[in-house]
Formats: sequence, structure tokens, C-alpha cells
Amino acid sequence: MIAAMNAIDKLIARMTLAEKLGQLTMTAASYAVTGPVIAGDSTDSIRNGTVGNLLNLFGAKPVQDMQRIAVEESRLGIPLLIGFDVIHGHRTVFPVPLAEAATFDPGIWALTAREAAREAAADGVALTFAPMLDVSRDLRWGRTVEGPGEDPWLAVQISRAKIRGFQGADLASAESVAATAKHFCAYGPVAGGRDYASVDISERTLREVHLPAFAAAVREGVAAIMPAFTELAGIPMTAHTALLRDYLRAELGFDGVIVSDYNAIAELIKHGVAGDVVEAAVLALKAGVDIDMMAGAYREGLPVALERGLVTGNEIDQCVRRVLRLKERLGLFADPYRRGTTAEPPETVASRRRLARDVGAKSLVLMKNADEVLPLPECSGRVSVIGPLAAASREMRGTWAAAGYDEPNVSVLSGLRAALPDAKVAHAEGVTIAGADVSGIATAVDVVASGTDVVVLCLGEAAEMSGEAASRAFPELPGEQRALAEAVLARARAEDIPVVVVLFCGRPLIVPWLVERADALLVAWFPGREAGHAVTDVLTGRVSPCGRTPISWPRSLGQIPLFYAQRACGRPENPEDRFTSKYLDSPSSPQFPFGFGLSYGRFSYTNLRVSPRTASAEDVIEVAVDVTNDGARAAEETVFLFVRDRVASVVRPLLELKGVTKIALQPGETGAARLQLPATELRFLGLDLESVFEAGEVEVLVGPCADAAQLLSSRLTLRT
Ligand code: NOJ
Repeated sequence: MIAAMNAIDKLIARMTLAEKLGQLTMTAASYAVTGPVIAGDSTDSIRNGTVGNLLNLFGAKPVQDMQRIAVEESRLGIPLLIGFDVIHGHRTVFPVPLAEAATFDPGIWALTAREAAREAAADGVALTFAPMLDVSRDLRWGRTVEGPGEDPWLAVQISRAKIRGFQGADLASAESVAATAKHFCAYGPVAGGRDYASVDISERTLREVHLPAFAAAVREGVAAIMPAFTELAGIPMTAHTALLRDYLRAELGFDGVIVSDYNAIAELIKHGVAGDVVEAAVLALKAGVDIDMMAGAYREGLPVALERGLVTGNEIDQCVRRVLRLKERLGLFADPYRRGTTAEPPETVASRRRLARDVGAKSLVLMKNADEVLPLPECSGRVSVIGPLAAASREMRGTWAAAGYDEPNVSVLSGLRAALPDAKVAHAEGVTIAGADVSGIATAVDVVASGTDVVVLCLGEAAEMSGEAASRAFPELPGEQRALAEAVLARARAEDIPVVVVLFCGRPLIVPWLVERADALLVAWFPGREAGHAVTDVLTGRVSPCGRTPISWPRSLGQIPLFYAQRACGRPENPEDRFTSKYLDSPSSPQFPFGFGLSYGRFSYTNLRVSPRTASAEDVIEVAVDVTNDGARAAEETVFLFVRDRVASVVRPLLELKGVTKIALQPGETGAARLQLPATELRFLGLDLESVFEAGEVEVLVGPCADAAQLLSSRLTLRT
């Protein structure tokens, strides 16, 4: 390691200022009809050493062609770092991140990241801009779909698993890619849920909710971190010295690469904290941003800043050193062509598709199943598949599926036709996703009326209605889908035909009327490559649904932000007392609480045990509960462990998630679900925001979701 450091220092000593700034610059490649081309002057810039990193390039040949220019034609032969947004799969598209969060399964999170890494690395990619760790409690924010949902503990688990999966045991392996924890930090609470808008939250919320997943990423050895586009209480994250330099680097000891978001350094000018690119570059560099993605501000601004004495050569060298060390850790100096030299065998691709199907099915959340209309009976009758998302195979991949854009996806219609060869599967779109034309509704209703046994109504958002720059003021069904749904529901009701709604969305949608009137509601999010098979597996009962929502579903827009871990208030809701915390015109409870999701089993909980009952900070508390499947089908239950500290020096949340486990049970079977609660998890930030472990009683609550009424509770005494 020391020898390698010396090699890097020797290399730095040989570099001109322009070459150093090249290592701090990342430019986009883009695709032309004939294949990949490099934007602007980048090919020459790679050759003359003034661009050292690329994004938006994939494919073994194009990557290696560019790498060859860097390695063989540039003066110092420094290999390129190729970054790409491998967000939920690469060519094989897995469910969108919010959907994957719904699996509550660290094994799945790590495995899909590993497979995406292998696939992306085979395409020459060395760095992914993932995982996205921004906690979101405002579903208007389109980027909710890219993240872990509303809970900080869940975000920590996803952070660890994803980084393990992407980076593997050895970052230099030809099957590993460097991960980027993004967007640091507190991007989720943008004002009004509007993307890129202002953020202003308390120091306590910042530390309790938004920082833990990033701290976990650093502990897991994440290679890179990307600051958010946003500003926090007046300080843009790209220039946030206190959080980037003092917290990430000094306090957490992060010595990886900080890569700016796209053009974010230049946007410091629009934020109004820099007058020009020179000032912008100085602010970002001083804060510790190593790579300038797409702003060209370092190349343009830092030579001037250096001349004016606003930055030092040493400050620039520190950034260059971090970039070169990442290239070294990735094995690029030893063999710049290691990623993308071996094509993947067809069996690997096939097994990845099976994984996409399996994870797709496990990410679906069954919200309602009146009269156990699902699973569909062994069906040789007539199924009417209605709605604009029924045959919309392109939409199934969801947002940010860059390398998977042209890959085929399985629609619900094809999935059902494949699984039910003896059934008559009729189809009508009715309306488009967002259009105003209602002329197809009558045909759809006719299809329903002509001897149908069950209607599968596929509704929802288009893939690009969530994701970056996709905030929605009205997160409901777009276009004329409500008109279609009402007509279909009315006709089906008149003929006593059950209606199963499959809802595609990148965030919770506010559809209380639909929840009330559908017989069954399956939230599919965007399941990716194998969507139609995954949905069909659940509809037919081949798989018992086991996804749980990682974010609360509101009943109305006015409830936003709605999240389960609200702090206790002095006037908790009491229907008998007007002067308590509630709305005059809406219940305050969610439509579906965090963690909610049905299966084809029916579970009851008894006999919660907590041991020891008195614990000190270093103890690990064993929690167990008996779970019985009272239903008629085998199924898997997800068991949540929450805590509540009723009396502490600062107001604590009503519930805090501290553990999740799963238990599979046959009909009539009882089993013990066991969880471990390290007492150190009960530390919190005290009056002065320092971590404290306070003596006293803590409630331990276990059950199927964050609805307090459904949880068993026991007491634990903490002693210091
Ligand atoms: C902008 C997005 O905010 C970020 O998440 C992404 O990684 C970069 N663009 C690069 O595509």
C-alpha cells in the first residue's frame, strides 16, 4: 500500500496543472445513431490528458476504445474512470429501488446490486452512481422512487447491503464496481416536494433521519459520495464545508472520492453563492469535492483561482490523489481493460432474468384482498385485462433504466397469457396513461361485460412520472384513468364480477376511492424486466405476496408529509376532544401504514418475550414472538420490531423501527420469530445533540406494520 501511495505521489509530481485538473473532470459521452460518440472535444481532451473520467458510456467496445486513447495515447497513460447510473439493474432491469425496499430483504438488496455490478462491469463500467439513500417523507417528490422510503433504519440496512453488493469483497475484481452513496444529504425534504427546491430542516432531523445511511455507507467502505443538488438552510451541498469536509472527511474519516452532481458546481452561481466559475470552483474544492461532473468549472476556474492565491496546489493535489487512488483500488492501473474483456455466458443472463422475476414478485405489495378474491382460482375461464398499463411493456422498467432502455419487458397481458394458456384473456386499453380521450372506455366496459370471470385493471403512472425532475402536485391517477376505473367498477359490480387492481407507481398514489371500491389492490411499483411474470406469479398464487410498503400511503394530499415516526405531541389525537392533534376534514391515520402488506396467509401474534428485561448499553436483547398462520395457504410473514422511549430528555418518535425478520409458515403452523436488539440501538441524540444512553423504561413493540394498534408490547428497563 505504501509503495502504491508512493507510485501515485510520483505520478502526481510528473503531472502538469492541466493534467491534474483533467483527473478532476468528468465529461459525458453520448450516443449517436452510429454508436457512442464523445461530447464536444472530449476525445482530444482524453488524448491530451485534460479529461480523466467519463460518464454515460457503456459497452465493452466503446469503453475500451476510449480507455485505449487514455492509456496508449495520452502522455501519462492514466486510465479513465467510467461512471454510469446503474440504479436498479444494468441491462437486466430489476424493480425500482422503492419497490426493492419493499422486500425488506438485505439478501435481495445485495444480490441485485451484485448482479448489476457484474453486468455493468462486463460492459466496461467501473463506477455506479448508486445507491441513492435519500429518505423521503413527501411522495410528491419524484425521486422518492429511487430511494429507500421513509425510514432511516431501513435506509441504513439498504446502504450496507447495496454497497456490499456493488463493491464485492474486492473492488479490483473485474466483476465489481465502485459505489456512490448519493445524494448527500437531506435531498428528500425539498420544499413542497418540488425537485431541486430549497431544504430547511432541524439539525436533529438531519442527524437522526438523513445522515445515518451515509454514515453507514462510509463504514461499509463506499468508494464515492455525491453531494445533492440542493442547498440546506442556505448552504448548497456542493459547497458545504461543514458537512463534506468536517463531517464526512474529518468526523467519519471518509477518504474516498466526492463527485459532484451533474453541473452542480456551476449551479453554485445560480444558487447565488458564487459570482462566477472561479468562485464556484473554489467553494467546491475547499469543501472537498474531488470530481467536477459536467460543469467544466475546475478546468476553467482553478487555474485562475491558483493564480489569485484562492486555492493552493496542495489542495488540488489532495483531490487528484483521491481520484488516482480510486483508480488504483479499482485495479485500473494494473489492467485498464479488466472490465469488459470477458463476455458473460448466456446462462448468466438467463439466471439474472429469473432473479428479476423472483425479486419482482417479492416487491409487490398486496394492499387489499376482500373475500380472498386472490389468488385467482385455477382459471380456465375468462379474464379481462383492462387499462393503459396492461400491455405497456416499456413502462414496466420504471425510471432510470439507462442501459436497459431498449431491452424488452414482459407486460401483465403477456404474463397472464403465458401463465393461463387455457383461459380466454381479453384486453382493452380504455384510455391512455395521461391522455384526455375517453372514447375507448365504452369498449373496455363491453369487454368486461361479456362473460368475464375476473377483471384485472392495470392502472397507474407512466414510468417517467417519477424519478428526477418528476415531482407531482397531484400524485393521483393521471389522465382519464379514474373515469375508466369508475365505469369498469360500476359495470363489474352490476354483474358481480370481482375487480383486481394492479397499480403501477413510483410513489404512493392517493386513491382512497379506488381502495374502497376495488376487490383487491396489488401495488406493483415498476417491477422491471420480468414485470408481467412477477405480477402473474402473485395473481395466480404461484408466489404468496410478501412485499411491505416502505412508505406510508396517505388518504389525502393534505396529510403530506405523513410518516409513522412522528414525535409524540402534547395533545395526541382524541376524537372526544376538539383540542387535540387531528384534522376537521380527514382522518389523520394513513390509508396504509408503513410496513403494511397482506399475504395469502393470515397471521396472528402471541407471547412476546424480551430477554433480559433489564439491559445496559453493551447488551444485546433477544426478542421473540410466536406467529401463527391461521390462513389456508403457506405464506411468509414480515415481522417488525419497533421501540418507543416514553420518557426521555428529548421528545422521541411514537415508534422507531429497530429490526425486521421473516418467517415462513404452513397453514396452521406456529413458529417463533426471533430478533436481536443491540441496546446501543437505543442510544439517541440528547439535548445537546450528543449521543446518550439514558436509564429508564423503553417499550418494545412487535407486529406486522407501524400501526400501534396491531403491535404486541413489552417493557425493557435500561440501566447505565
Ligand atoms: C443527476 C442526478 O441527480 C444523479 O442522481 C445522477 O447520478 C447524475 N445526474 C448522473 O447521471
